[in-house]
Amino acid sequence: MKKNISIIEGDGIGPEIMKQTIKILRTITNKYDHDFHYKKAIAGSMAIEKFGNPMPEETINSCLNSDAILFGCVGDPKHDNNPIGMRPEDGLLELRKKMNLYCNIRPIIVYSKINKSPIKKEILNGVDFIIYRELTGGIYFGKKGRSENGEKAYDHCIYSKKEIERIGKMAFEAALSRKKKVTVVDKANVLETSKLWREVIKKMGVDYPDIDLDFLYIDNAAMQIIMNPKKFDIVLTDNMFGDILSDEASVITSSLGLLPSASIGENKRSMFEPVHGSYPQAKGKNIANPLGCILSASMMLGYFEMYKEKNLLEEAVKKSIENKICTPDIIDSHSSSTTEEVGSYISQYIQNQ
Ligand code: IPM
Ligand code: MN
Repeated sequence: MKKNISIIEGDGIGPEIMKQTIKILRTITNKYDHDFHYKKAIAGSMAIEKFGNPMPEETINSCLNSDAILFGCVGDPKHDNNPIGMRPEDGLLELRKKMNLYCNIRPIIVYSKINKSPIKKEILNGVDFIIYRELTGGIYFGKKGRSENGEKAYDHCIYSKKEIERIGKMAFEAALSRKKKVTVVDKANVLETSKLWREVIKKMGVDYPDIDLDFLYIDNAAMQIIMNPKKFDIVLTDNMFGDILSDEASVITSSLGLLPSASIGENKRSMFEPVHGSYPQAKGKNIANPLGCILSASMMLGYFEMYKEKNLLEEAVKKSIENKICTPDIIDSHSSSTTEEVGSYISQYIQNQ
């Protein structure tokens, strides 16, 4: 199968984790005789420095013309105080918006061999839930600004019924092939947007009689995710709450470095990116965990309906963990491997099957 893939390495550890991911994809495509074309595009701090724009038009066009996008991560402390629209993160938000990638899927899977979570083991065993985070609306994209004297600031949070329905449908459908439970996380005791979420999703629930639908306030959900994570199946939530809950949920898995995500839009347009940020402190040190990016590539293979390939890649990741070929975020640092070694192990494992 032939596929055109836009590659955005981004900032910080982005180029390192992407290098390993592409190395592994090449092994897979050779083995299964696929033809993947990778087209690099720039975004984030490098794009700000080169073009004065964190998401150049050319990058967006390249993404719009590809079958999928693999995205590393963006963010650089030297641009933290740039004006609105000129931070590396703004480039990512613009891409999500322009491509209409409204449904962000973040699976939370616990690998029993990793033991770096501060949470008790008995709470963690068997945790398996997915966060469905709305990605192109809410407070992230509402009008924002400052008063003239700069002493007041605002960020509007707006949701339409249509925006809630389209991700609601994705979440209900996903639950049907899993544990058949959808938990909506909101703040309906305070926010009007959350009240709309509840109304819309409750109505949709009538068409999904087999789904056990419940609602939690965000403060309560933040506690339950740590106290009793097994009770979740599909967590459906807005942009901001989903952002916060996914970092929190990473504590269950031991490391944010492990978490992949897929962002799906209208016409099934899709981008795949790890949940973590650019981790500038680790840049160039060969210590970053490439698994978040590699597992994002595996979600991409699923999106291409290459299920054998996806399963083999996930098996290889599991083997790397079982054999303790891991970066220092998920294993004792005296016995850890480098970013490169993890990528090579996985690639070699696939080659040998
Ligand atoms: C994420 C990130 C982004 C977000 C940042 C980099 C803008 O934290 O994908 O979770 O807040 O959505
Ligand atoms: Mn985040």
